[in-house]
Formats: sequence, C-alpha cells, structure tokens
Amino acid sequence: MLVNKFSLLFLTTLCYSLSYQLQQMKTLNWGIVGLGKIAHSFVQDLQLVDNSQPVAAASRSLDKAKTFSSYYKIPKSYGSYTELFNDPAVDIVYIATPHDSHAELSIEAMRAGKHVLCEKPLAVNSKQVQSILETSRKEGVFMMEALWSKFNPAIKECLRLISTDTIGEVNYLQADFSFNMNHEQEHDRMLNMELAGGSLLDMGIYPVFLAYSVFGKPADILATSRFHRTGADIQTAIIFKYKNGIAQLMSGFASRSDMVAKIYGTAGRIHINPVWHESEGLSIYGNEASSPPQQIDLPKKGKGYTYEIEECMRCISEGKIESPHWSHQNSLDLIDILDQVRRQIGLRYPFE
Ligand SMILES: NC(=O)c1ccc[n+]([C@@H]2O[C@H](COP(=O)([O-])OP(=O)(O)OC[C@H]3O[C@@H](n4cnc5c(N)ncnc54)[C@H](OP(=O)(O)O)[C@@H]3O)[C@@H](O)[C@H]2O)c1
Repeated sequence: MLVNKFSLLFLTTLCYSLSYQLQQMKTLNWGIVGLGKIAHSFVQDLQLVDNSQPVAAASRSLDKAKTFSSYYKIPKSYGSYTELFNDPAVDIVYIATPHDSHAELSIEAMRAGKHVLCEKPLAVNSKQVQSILETSRKEGVFMMEALWSKFNPAIKECLRLISTDTIGEVNYLQADFSFNMNHEQEHDRMLNMELAGGSLLDMGIYPVFLAYSVFGKPADILATSRFHRTGADIQTAIIFKYKNGIAQLMSGFASRSDMVAKIYGTAGRIHINPVWHESEGLSIYGNEASSPPQQIDLPKKGKGYTYEIEECMRCISEGKIESPHWSHQNSLDLIDILDQVRRQIGLRYPFE
C-alpha cells in the first residue's frame, strides 16, 4: 500500500550520503558534564560516531570523574564542571545533570565559548530557556536541546509519511510514557522537587514533543495529575485540542504502559513501535480491519543518541548556532506547552 520500496531506497541513500559528509568533517572534541546514567549511554554512542570523541569528563567528584574517564579511555578528568568549561581542548559540552541546573550550566559553558548539547528539558521553564537561547545568540555558539527522539529514524520516517498524506488527514494521536518505580526513594532525582522532579518534565516531555511535532501548539489544554508526597507528579494525563484534532497523552511513575504511539488519520493509522520514543520501526494500517499492517524496520545505530551527535557535528561544521531540525523556537514552544500543563496541574518547583 501506502509506502513503497522507493521511499526506503531513498532513506538508505540519504543515510550513506550523510555518513560520507560526517567522515569529511573536522573532529569534534566533547566534554561530558554530570556523570550519571544518561552520560554513560551517551558516551557509548559518542564512540560510535566518526570524527567525534570525548576528550574530558567532569563530575562534582574528581574520583568519580577519573573512574568514568578511565573506563571510557577519556584523556582528562575534572572534579568541577567549571574546569571543564575552561579547557581549550573542549569544543562542545554535553550537559547531563538534573533539570534544575541545565540553564545555569549551559550559560556558563557558552560564556566560556563552548557549543552546548543539553539534556531535555532544556530548562525548567520558559524564562530559563529564553536566557539560554539569548546567550547562544550573544556568544555565537551552537546550542541544542538533546531531544534525541526528533532524530530517531522511525520517528523521522513517521513524520515524513504524515507530511505526504500517507494516512490522510491526521486528527488523533495517543502517546504515553510510563513505568513503575519505587516511590520510597524520595531522594531519587525523579521525585525530588529541588531537582525539578516529576513525570511530566522527565517523561511527559516525549508525548508532548510528538503531539507538537504532528500538530503544532495546541489551542486548548486539559491536564490533571496525581502527586507523590514530595510534590512531584507521579501520573499526569493531558488532552490537547487543535483546530483539526485531539491528542491524548500520559506520563507516569506508577505502572508500565505499552509505550506504542498511535497516530490516526482519515485513511489509516501509524503505530510507532515500542518503546516509541526510541523506536526501531513502524506499523502502518489502512482502514480495512482485515488487512495486516505494513511493517517498516528502521534499526538504530547504537542506542540512538548517535543521530543527535551527528546533527551537532553538521550544524557546527556549517557555522550554525541552532539546528534546523530541533530549533531554538522548537525548544521555546515545547517548554511553553509544558509550562501551560504545569499551570493546569498546579505544579511549581520550590526555586521558582
Ligand atoms: N535523553 C535521554 O534518553 C535521557 C534519559 C535519561 C535522562 N535524561 C536527562 O538527563 C538528565 C540526567 O538524568 P540521569 O537519569 O542521567 O540522572 P542521574 O543518573 O541522577 O545523573 C545526573 C548527574 O548529574 C550530576 N548532578 C549535578 N548536580 C546534582 C544534584 N544536585 N543531584 C544529583 N546529581 C547531580 C551528578 O553527576 P556528578 O556526580 O558526576 O557531578 C549525577 O550523576 C536529566 O535532565 C534527564 O531528563 C535524558
């Protein structure tokens, strides 16, 4: 039906041509800041990308930085983030600390002349995001929110299929991101209000990003949450209304959801296979109930952080301060929507 071999051939050719371009680029030297869970995954993917290499790692503890660096064979270790920002060998800093510190650290790194890739959410609220983006413009350095799903091959292909009317006029989207966690660990980053914890900013950001990528900014928002005793939202349900559609979204720490994102149009529907925000394929259904879905397999390189890394390399080599594919305006729109959801559910952080 809908998708033919030519589009897959086109995708494969595009991948080869992008990979050739990356091989021609000057090596980009990365500094890794905040050596927690995601920093480990990111560095493993960084080592899979041609002409990108980790040259320094910084932690609040020098011992921790040395252990991390020796494991990944990174030449330099620092016991403070500021020392890494001031290292002339570092071209770009990857910030992987809790959300509350993203703005302060991104700004400090850019003022030291570094390009920055900062973990999602880019910051806790619109005001903070604006000051980050102003600094990027003022210093003339590249800045991108690490919204890696935007560069995931399956999600890219899904958005392309939607834009070419493969499933007709899209009018309904359903997406969630929820798992079960131990609610007794009050100091866990995810439940800690001082670190801007809660399911919305950590996981709900993905379904919100998908709805925004498909429909744009919502005309109306309805949202409600259940809260942990710390004040962090442990379940948040959201409905966005658009002129021509509805999105139904959910994030949570209380149960595991199936994590299939479903996008419905007048001529069929696309499922982004689980776990959808890091998917490796799509299932495309027509409106005939009896016909089997068409499966499209789009395996990832590494865990999938490779694509945002390659995007940083391309943009920096072209002298850009933002990505055309996840732009500064996209980050501003996303945090504005999240701010609106937070106002509805009554979630404010102690430092706001
Ligand atoms: N893109 C993705 O797939 C993905 C996945 C998970 C998380 N994330 C994002 O990445 C960020 C970090 O998440 P994570 O799961 O890696 O968190 P994590 O395991 O808790 O690690 C965060 C690191 O930040 C540093 N840090 C600085 N100030 C801190 C403080 N006050 N309390 C605790 N740690 C502090 C610590 O590193 P040092 O001790 O070395 O200084 C810590 O190891 C979050 O913003 C999250 O949204 C993204």
